[in-house]
Amino acid sequence: MFSFPDNSDMFTRRCVWVNGPVIVGAGPSGLAVAAGLKDGGVPFVLLDRADCIASLWQKRTYDRLKLHLPKQFCQLPNFPFPEHYPEYPTKKQFIDYLESYAKHFNIKPRFNETVESAKYDESGSLWRVKTVSVEGAEVEYMCQWLVVATGENAERLVPEIEGLKEFGGEVIHACDYKSGESLRGKKVLVVGCGNSGMEISLDLCDHDAKPSMVVRSSVHILPREMFGKSTFELAMVMLRWLPLWFVDKILLVLAWMILGNIEKLGLKRPSVGPLELKNTRGKTPVLDIGALAKIRSREIQLVPGIKRFSCGAAEFVNGEKLEFDSVVLATGYCSNVPFWLQEIEFFSKNGFPKEPFPNGWKGKAGLYAVGFTRRGISGASADALKIAQDISNAWKECDMKKRKLNVPTHRRCISTF
Ligand SMILES: Cc1cc2nc3c(=O)[nH]c(=O)nc-3n(C[C@H](O)[C@H](O)[C@H](O)COP(=O)(O)OP(=O)(O)OC[C@H]3O[C@@H](n4cnc5c(N)ncnc54)[C@H](O)[C@@H]3O)c2cc1C
Ligand SMILES: NC(=O)c1ccc[n+]([C@@H]2O[C@H](COP(=O)([O-])OP(=O)(O)OC[C@H]3O[C@@H](n4cnc5c(N)ncnc54)[C@H](OP(=O)(O)O)[C@@H]3O)[C@@H](O)[C@H]2O)c1
Repeated sequence: MFSFPDNSDMFTRRCVWVNGPVIVGAGPSGLAVAAGLKDGGVPFVLLDRADCIASLWQKRTYDRLKLHLPKQFCQLPNFPFPEHYPEYPTKKQFIDYLESYAKHFNIKPRFNETVESAKYDESGSLWRVKTVSVEGAEVEYMCQWLVVATGENAERLVPEIEGLKEFGGEVIHACDYKSGESLRGKKVLVVGCGNSGMEISLDLCDHDAKPSMVVRSSVHILPREMFGKSTFELAMVMLRWLPLWFVDKILLVLAWMILGNIEKLGLKRPSVGPLELKNTRGKTPVLDIGALAKIRSREIQLVPGIKRFSCGAAEFVNGEKLEFDSVVLATGYCSNVPFWLQEIEFFSKNGFPKEPFPNGWKGKAGLYAVGFTRRGISGASADALKIAQDISNAWKECDMKKRKLNVPTHRRCISTF
């Protein structure tokens, strides 16, 4: 890499010219793009704010987590899961797989560097990406291509609920929940009934805690499998032949046959079908792995929306007031792109590309997005292949031009591997 001072931040910030793309985020998406670039012989810099790859999986998920989708839908390009892995790999197995992936492709991210801003500099036709390390060191990377791979779930969503500060007991977000071991015998309010809320409530039951789960609106619950086939796979196969609305109808009829009428349990289904809801509003259906049985047996109590908290208690919109020892906010996540990327044409205010899948991977001026398809790891893999190919082509063309113009080697082909 080649470093030189910049006029504006000359005394505080080191500047680094990158002869290739900068990838922000070393989760599965960033790794998949990096692997594709390695294959194409393109140098790059891969940055992550954490001290490890796949920090969401390593640091911000609970112990019992397994992939919800069968392994063939969660593997990254050109590197299958080991044969002996089960249909639904555990979190540990998935992390081991990602570590092997990085090792196999010799991907070495720069850890502990948080991207604070990225802006396209029209005058120089390049991206200026500013980072700060945990020690406070500041670096500015300059590059022609910028790949955004910071994830759909970069930041926790913490709702503002009246009185939460006065609650007094432990309040954590789902991303800090590891297991129910420390909550044995405790009354725990789980706020949210997405996949996290359901599975954390189930885990609390398994540790003899007493969970109550807030269901403030509606939720689609589907069995993880239907007639021995994964529901996701079944839906994907049907979508090849049938329109989405029809696949939704079939899924709901099958879910009704397998799970019964969940509305009787107090779980209202949305008026829009599960796939349509995921596509239009990004709301993932719950794939049931046991929570529903615990709701039926009343080991998981359902409660309506929260009106307010008070010391050691929560009051609900139906007027009921219950006492709790702890609260787990399984209230979801959001993208952090709007906080650091100074661009409004390609990305919308919610931190997702404006164009939906399969067109939301490429913006203008060398900007790319991977992992924002609302289709989990399979969507990220599909985009990563396209991005790596596109950048490889552009990089080779650019390199050839520079060679013809006799641009010095240090400005032309600096290896950042
Ligand atoms: C509990 C849970 C379970 C899930 N299970 C599944 C599943 O079974 N199957 C599935 O397909 N999907 C699942 N998902 C969705 C999940 O988003 C994907 O599995 C996957 O992690 C997405 O990869 P990614 O690389 O796009 O994002 P992430 O894994 O979130 O990686 C993004 C990386 O960017 C880094 N980063 C963020 N901001 C910055 C910044 N400003 N500067 C530098 N680095 C930054 C982060 O540290 C992180 O390492 C799950 C999500 C959650 C929360
Ligand atoms: N094993 C797995 O594969 C696995 C496990 C866990 C999570 N995930 C994935 O991770 C992503 C995030 O899932 P998630 O469950 O954490 O988040 P989520 O799907 O966004 O669900 C958030 C939940 O919190 C509720 N909520 C938000 N604010 C609330 C408030 N103020 N009061 C009451 N309820 C509130 C929402 O209710 P409303 O619907 O009313 O807004 C919703 O039920 C999803 O893609 C999911 O599939 C996967």
